[in-house]
Amino acid sequence: MQYPTIENIKKFHEKEVSLKGWIKNVRSSGKIAFIILRDGTGFLQCVAVKNEMSEENYSLVKDLLYEDTVEVSGVVKSSPKAPGGYEILLSSIKVLYSYKKEEYPIQKKEHGVDFLLNHRHLWLRSSKQFAIMRIRDEIIKSIRDFMYDNEFLLLDSPIFTPTAPEGTTTLFATDYFGSDAYLSQSGQLYQEAGALAFRRAYCFGPTFRAEKSKTKRHLTEFWMVEPEMAFADLDDVMDMSEKLVCYIVKRVLERRGEELKILERDISKLEKITSPFHRMTYDEAVKLINESGVKMEWGEDFGAEQDSVLSNHFDKPVFIHRFPKKIKPFYMEIDPENPELVLGVDMYAPEGYGELVGGSQRMFDLDNLVKEAKKSNLDEEAYRWYIELRKWGSCPHAGFGLGVERTISWITGVEHIRTTIPFPRTINRLYP
Ligand code: 4AD
Repeated sequence: MQYPTIENIKKFHEKEVSLKGWIKNVRSSGKIAFIILRDGTGFLQCVAVKNEMSEENYSLVKDLLYEDTVEVSGVVKSSPKAPGGYEILLSSIKVLYSYKKEEYPIQKKEHGVDFLLNHRHLWLRSSKQFAIMRIRDEIIKSIRDFMYDNEFLLLDSPIFTPTAPEGTTTLFATDYFGSDAYLSQSGQLYQEAGALAFRRAYCFGPTFRAEKSKTKRHLTEFWMVEPEMAFADLDDVMDMSEKLVCYIVKRVLERRGEELKILERDISKLEKITSPFHRMTYDEAVKLINESGVKMEWGEDFGAEQDSVLSNHFDKPVFIHRFPKKIKPFYMEIDPENPELVLGVDMYAPEGYGELVGGSQRMFDLDNLVKEAKKSNLDEEAYRWYIELRKWGSCPHAGFGLGVERTISWITGVEHIRTTIPFPRTINRLYP
């Protein structure tokens, strides 16, 4: 038999249980008090009735403070009015720890977001942050399960790297025993080695971008899953990333309904996320953007305004593929139909949540890759190993990266990406 936690409390209906946890709130009216207890797995109403407890024990209730550590005992009752549908009728309460010298910093009033982020170590205990982190956990677990079930081998890419796959403007350099090493912007190049060794490989880890952008979509440290497939092309990237996103959304709907409720997420919008997603070329996207009133020239990259059009136009994710070569990294395969384009693709989330996925078919040919690397002024020595992948066993291969925090932001309906990661790192935040 499982031991009782708030998450599984309904299995203990009408049974006597003891729970250890912390005080989230207390409301008392003399003869009866309603305590909200949290135990790390959920929130539960505990009812203390004066006549049902010893006088000494009941008198403790009025002195309870936010975040006091307690042990409560009582019988589990169903209660349609209680959040979650169950409550405990208390027979006793024990205070295990209470800090009385200072008030808990997060009180029942409006706090500015900077204040809350400065107290992130405590803010994580509040119900909305709890719900976001539980959904984050489910999303990460669902990605790992999906990868395993689809025969991808986990092959961790290094964090210290000599290369800059996504361009040299967003690098964090560190002193590596007297020479420069960069914090990884993407594990992709190593996964290309992985795909040629294991057919399907992926990495899943933190990546770093010294982006000076202060938008609600950018972190300087974020998590990315990066699958890579041998004998695969651009269409395979779209098919696989679409399948992955559908799988993640379905898992969260099935297993994290309570958390979505805490966040007041409109789940009817998530229920629509099924195959197929829309697919359009960059050319078609530029046309759509201009028609919607946001101006852009062919050949430009999408900025925040253009992203917003693409991300608000459909009620499902949309793929934009075949971009102008000059706005994409050196490693993307050239479109055989038009040498000005590359076989790259981005996936945009609906409801304005922006780009979730970036991927491409990778350059196959050794000479072309050497030429492109030179054009991008890449340090030949640092990329020697990558170029060697085209000497032995080269084959069409392709992959993508899905940003975990962007995905969480969209699924939870949280406007700003900073609360989708336990301890956010942004251009102006390194604390706590
Ligand atoms: O489009 P990006 O830059 O693609 C790559 O890094 C490829 N090397 C991936 C690959 O093919 N293996 O980034 C992929 C995704 C974006 O679509 C976005 O979801 C997320 O990573 N992302 C960020 N998330 C938060 N903060 C940032 N600063 C991000 N930059 C990218």
